[in-house]
Amino acid sequence: MSERPEDRNEKIAVRFQVNGEPTELLVSANETLLSALRNQLGLTGTKYGCGTGDCCACTVSVNGRAILSCLSLAAELEGENVTTVEGLSDGSKLNPVQASFAELGAVQCGFCTPGMIMTINALLAENPDPSEQEVRHYLRGNLCRCTGYVKIVDAALAAAGTMEA
Ligand code: FES
Ligand code: FES
Repeated sequence: MSERPEDRNEKIAVRFQVNGEPTELLVSANETLLSALRNQLGLTGTKYGCGTGDCCACTVSVNGRAILSCLSLAAELEGENVTTVEGLSDGSKLNPVQASFAELGAVQCGFCTPGMIMTINALLAENPDPSEQEVRHYLRGNLCRCTGYVKIVDAALAAAGTMEA
């Protein structure tokens, strides 16, 4: 029986786009995307909350889909297009969801914020005009210990241009 790379502790070369930049990394077979982003690329906007898929603080986009980077293996992302919260703004110009969070005070400690913003971006890409109920349903896995969620939902609706005046 042939030995697996993880048994030999070998590194694997993986090439993908991160925030539009071609990136090549050497990763262990069991290294998560979250670890590669934070520890190899210094992209610490993506947060390590639980590490077990239960808080969504580590949400990033892969090819436009929101995924949990703590449950994704970096070695499996060859050729994929990864976007983190750092990749949403255009220089100092925030994207609409980021701007709404800032304007409406949807950030307290900020730990959940990158994951919330990445999830809402994915929602608005799928459904540009969601109802409050749809926003709450889409965000059901994103945990926040501080805000009570009201301002986060308001910010999502404002970004979608659907909030009542
Ligand atoms: S750190 Fe990934 S879901 Fe909590
Ligand atoms: S703002 Fe603190 S966890 Fe959400």
